[in-house]
Amino acid sequence: MKALVLAGGRGTRLRPITHTRAKQLVPVANKPVLDFGLESIAAAGIKEVGIIVSDPREMLQPDHRTGELITVLVNSQAEIRAAVGDGSRFGLKVTYIEQEAPLGLAHAVKISEEFMAGDSFVMYLGDNLIKDGITHFVREFEAEKPDAQILLAQVSRPWEFGVAELQGERVVRLEEKPKQPKSDLALVGVYLFTSSIFDAVRAIKPSPRGELEITDAIQHMITTGQNVRSHVIRGWWKDTGRVEDLLEANRIVLADLERRIDGTVDAATIIEGAVEIGEGTVVERSHLRGPLIIGCNARISDTYIGPFTALADGVQLQRCEIEHSIVLDRSEIRDIASRIESSLIGRDVVVTKSDSRPRAHRLMLGDSSRVELA
Ligand code: G1P
Repeated sequence: MKALVLAGGRGTRLRPITHTRAKQLVPVANKPVLDFGLESIAAAGIKEVGIIVSDPREMLQPDHRTGELITVLVNSQAEIRAAVGDGSRFGLKVTYIEQEAPLGLAHAVKISEEFMAGDSFVMYLGDNLIKDGITHFVREFEAEKPDAQILLAQVSRPWEFGVAELQGERVVRLEEKPKQPKSDLALVGVYLFTSSIFDAVRAIKPSPRGELEITDAIQHMITTGQNVRSHVIRGWWKDTGRVEDLLEANRIVLADLERRIDGTVDAATIIEGAVEIGEGTVVERSHLRGPLIIGCNARISDTYIGPFTALADGVQLQRCEIEHSIVLDRSEIRDIASRIESSLIGRDVVVTKSDSRPRAHRLMLGDSSRVELA
């Protein structure tokens, strides 16, 4: 049994964060989403993993200091390779497989045929998070030996996913992002395949969005009479493609946090609940109400940090209030009167009050940014 992990794609729904970072590397509770997937693959006893990465791309972006538009090379492939390396950190042996363009999940399967060399495999979409891992599903697949096994989960917005129609436990039809979904059972981004999937991906044609859809390939297996099992998962699952889902994943992962304080906290600071503070971080005259996590070398003063907040390394907060948010590396927030909540703030961002005249909001935001002012 091998694994195929998808770490390409555009991450359009998480722009502007994904203008400069692969969506699979955006952290949840200060750990890249992709790490959760790789850890659960390793926990299922799988050793050999192919990671699908895409080519570098050029984008226009405002310069960090001058605001001038410049062309930057967004090389998500290099970023993924740097973050995962040879996989030994996870107990895995990783092979990178390059996809020249985002031509769809079934296309990713197609180009992995040589790597799989006839083995069965679990395909894991790198932006998916399944809290209870995948070990159970892998064992079930090995025991039952179907041609393919899909995981399903009940969702409130089925039209945003691949949707399954069941008769009892049998899958009768799958449809990718249907306008009128036949059920509320979405395809989870974790699939188990035998090598018969390769004939199916060769048989299908691109969808209206121009991609070879894995949903169509599995539908082809059903149509040609192969045994496609389904399993409705009960625990939580998140496709972290949207900011709301990323924040919810952050909330759920932080709910299991344990208190651990490696940084320095002064006597005037109040800490309630599960709070993790990394080495080199200094907290002064603040109120921390967990669960929340703060990385290393951060500086927090005269600030309230509420539940379900994850602050990455080097973040600086002064005289502000924040909760239910994710703040990435080295960003600074100072002197903000109203509480910041349900926010995702990228790296090296500065949010501050200004006394200069005229009194106004002065914004320098990347493409596809979203700001809601109270
Ligand atoms: C993909 C699949 C979809 C599945 C989803 C799960 O959608 O095409 O069938 O339900 O992943 O995360 P995408 O995220 O590419 O829109």
